[in-house]
Amino acid sequence: MGKKLKLGLVGLGNMGSVHVKNLMQMENVELVGVCDIVHEKADRFAKEAHTTAYYDSTDMMERAGLEAIQIAVPHYDHTTISVEAFHRGLHVLCEKPLAVHINDALKSIRAYEDALKKNPSLVFGIMFQERTLPHYRKIKEILDSGLLGRLTRVTWIDTTRFRSQFYYNSGGWRATWAGEGGGILTNQCPHTLDMYQWLFGVPKTISAYAAIGKYHDIEVEDEVSACLIHENGMIGNLIVTTAESPGTNRLEIAGENGKLVYEDNRLTLWKNEMSMLKLIEVSDQLFDHIRTHEEEVPYASDAPSGHKVVIDRFVRRALGEDCPLIADGREGLNSVEIANGIMMSHFDQHPVEIAACGDEFERKLKELIASSRYVKTVRETAADNMEDSFSK
Ligand SMILES: NC(=O)c1ccc[n+]([C@@H]2O[C@H](COP(=O)([O-])OP(=O)(O)OC[C@H]3O[C@@H](n4cnc5c(N)ncnc54)[C@H](O)[C@@H]3O)[C@@H](O)[C@H]2O)c1
Repeated sequence: MGKKLKLGLVGLGNMGSVHVKNLMQMENVELVGVCDIVHEKADRFAKEAHTTAYYDSTDMMERAGLEAIQIAVPHYDHTTISVEAFHRGLHVLCEKPLAVHINDALKSIRAYEDALKKNPSLVFGIMFQERTLPHYRKIKEILDSGLLGRLTRVTWIDTTRFRSQFYYNSGGWRATWAGEGGGILTNQCPHTLDMYQWLFGVPKTISAYAAIGKYHDIEVEDEVSACLIHENGMIGNLIVTTAESPGTNRLEIAGENGKLVYEDNRLTLWKNEMSMLKLIEVSDQLFDHIRTHEEEVPYASDAPSGHKVVIDRFVRRALGEDCPLIADGREGLNSVEIANGIMMSHFDQHPVEIAACGDEFERKLKELIASSRYVKTVRETAADNMEDSFSK
């Protein structure tokens, strides 16, 4: 029998309960502990998974003989638990987002890089399972091939993540500055932000509007329109909300050599016969246009995808196999930078340079927490079917 990774899971809520089931099916994982501050959950899942219940992550790290920890708790504790795990030399697979703010994200990254000096094969992964989705992989492949030439515009409308008030009331930490650290940018859309940076890189400047509790009784943002300006001049438009149904997931990428559009599970490519930027220079017509050819791009829609693939790669890598992670934990900084930049631009009501947002956003967050008068209605409810919350 092959070697098994001794892993502990912390956080047994909606997401953690899905992870437990996946981990129980993995032949190369020995689930040596499950942990939740709610004793009843820890006991219930420990029984189901034939493992030991812990009620405190430090205690689990101390006593369970872990080699790796998977983190699925509310956001602020992503940092505290990751940092402690790295100090103890453990591999870490963290849920998204890497952290609530840039400074916390940097704490986890620094702790990992310090730990790497002692153990160069230490693994830090982050749960960005949407990177496994076949349509996004195909888009990445096309962009990386350079087929579209210089990109000029990206417009992404992702309004498929509808949430009801019932959802927001389902946990005391949700949709509060102190508990969650943000709204749609921190919880529902880190995948979109990660995918954006994975495909197009991190913008330099952001000009954005965020609506705070516009459609829900919450104190954080539930609607965002952002203009993301890149170093090379490319403009990105990002529109996200948890208050639209039916929602849209339309990603439109314009380049000098054509256009690529993803919507309704279809990927369509328009190829120009010549570069649009060249035509601007050489055309002798008042109202010119380029001949273009439209085609549907096939992609393997049944390829393995989702959380299981991210966990599988993480475990194999931690066991010493030479297989790439779906997402290195350090890359989680990029989506946090975009999220913080959007909120700073909203609060300051002017464009912001992402590079300047670290301390500013942390300071703003502390102010928001200190001045909060929000009274939260909580009705603890567990999801019956988490599948409905994942993009496919
Ligand atoms: N990757 C995805 O598709 C996806 C989907 C949903 C949620 N998430 C992420 O998963 C995380 C958890 O979200 P959720 O919806 O499962 O929340 P949840 O409230 O349902 O579950 C969180 C659990 O963590 C426990 N907990 C809180 N603090 C703890 C601590 N310090 N130590 C141990 N246990 C602690 C709570 O008691 C609760 O059981 C968040 O980071 C969220 O963004 C990811």
